[in-house]
Amino acid sequence: MVQRTALITGITGQDGYYLTRLLLEKGYTVHGIVRRASTMNRTRIDQLKLEMPDAAARVILHYGDLTDAASLHRLVDEIAPDEIYNLAAQSHVRVSFDTPLYTQQVNADGALNVLESARVLNNRKPVRVYQASTSEMFGGMPGTVPQSEATPFHPRSPYGCAKVAAFYYTVHYRESCGLFACNGILFNHESPMRGETFVTRKITLAATRIKMGLQSTLRMGNLKAERDWGFAGDYVEAMWRMLQQPQPDDFVISTGQMHSVEEFLVAVFTRLELDWREYVQIDPQYFRATEVEQLCGDSRKARELLGWQPRTSFTQLVDLMVAHDLRLAKQERDLAGLASRSV
Ligand code: NAP
Ligand code: GDD
Repeated sequence: MVQRTALITGITGQDGYYLTRLLLEKGYTVHGIVRRASTMNRTRIDQLKLEMPDAAARVILHYGDLTDAASLHRLVDEIAPDEIYNLAAQSHVRVSFDTPLYTQQVNADGALNVLESARVLNNRKPVRVYQASTSEMFGGMPGTVPQSEATPFHPRSPYGCAKVAAFYYTVHYRESCGLFACNGILFNHESPMRGETFVTRKITLAATRIKMGLQSTLRMGNLKAERDWGFAGDYVEAMWRMLQQPQPDDFVISTGQMHSVEEFLVAVFTRLELDWREYVQIDPQYFRATEVEQLCGDSRKARELLGWQPRTSFTQLVDLMVAHDLRLAKQERDLAGLASRSV
């Protein structure tokens, strides 16, 4: 086992859970930055510690924030990690239309804070940096499918614009001061750990609750949008592989398969023996001022140079998420039954 130290920003998020799991399995000590919140935001990482009790002591959490450059510089200086994974972001595209400046401060200026801290550390000790870039940078423009590292960027949201800035800051630090910094241009990746307001998880949570009689409708936006959905557990492996290469570079990570939101709905409801048309209502509040219509990645470069490929199919991903959320819905139904019997 290697004795290496990683620092993960965004450790409490979906990818933070899977990346921490992977790094612990590889023998790393994992430091993570968490934000102070009025409600607990560590449920995923707490669950991981329960799942891996022997490794739990190798997860060390620190309060901090990507927008607080001073705390970030201090943490990077004190921890002196071998690898930094910058996963922290205001990651919701729809919300970025409501909070464009905040999204810029976290996703672009925050990434710059990480790179600047890494540059200073790199003067005394080598450090490698992963930047969580995104297929949103391509904007899904007509005629660009499939998108590869050579596809021009055309961001369609404040989120996408901020991520383009972070992408180029990462390239700039690599070119100007020789920092080992990589952009992973990841297409949508999902899991049972996915945030509840992203479309796949919103659908699996609602459909399983409908199945258990806990909910009767599901309000949705644009069902025609198409995405290249992979499994987050597969994608974090690509992040790690990027930082093990002899040279830093940028890589598209994707499955190469595209499905519409409607196809995802059909797959989930059919698996639960329900007809989605009876429950889904279209609600304008979920539409975006500018939509990214089609994302589908060409990840040949990663497959050839990183030896990476996705292991989980679309159907397997749907099965994983439905099975997980059905267990949650059954627990909720049983608890509701207990509560009504006790009054
Ligand atoms: P996520 O579940 O929304 O997690 C985001 C993480 O960032 C959370 O830990 C969150 O903390 C943290 N965070 C937000 N603002 C912060 C701040 N100001 N300072 C410190 N931490 C902050 O996102 P994800 O799906 O794991 O995605 C990870 C990264 O990959 C993000 O940068 C995202 O933009 C990018 N990405 C995701 C996908 C995808 O399909 N999932 C695809 C391409 C790129 P709290 O828990 O306190 O909110
Ligand atoms: N969230 C949401 N809620 N999306 C909906 C809904 C709804 O009720 N109805 C339709 N959609 C459509 C959106 O308009 C979009 O076209 C698609 O479903 C996917 O939306 P999200 O799941 O919110 O993901 P995203 O593609 O906008 O962004 C995710 O993937 C990016 C990578 O391409 C996020 O994880 C980003 O952080 C990530 O960079």
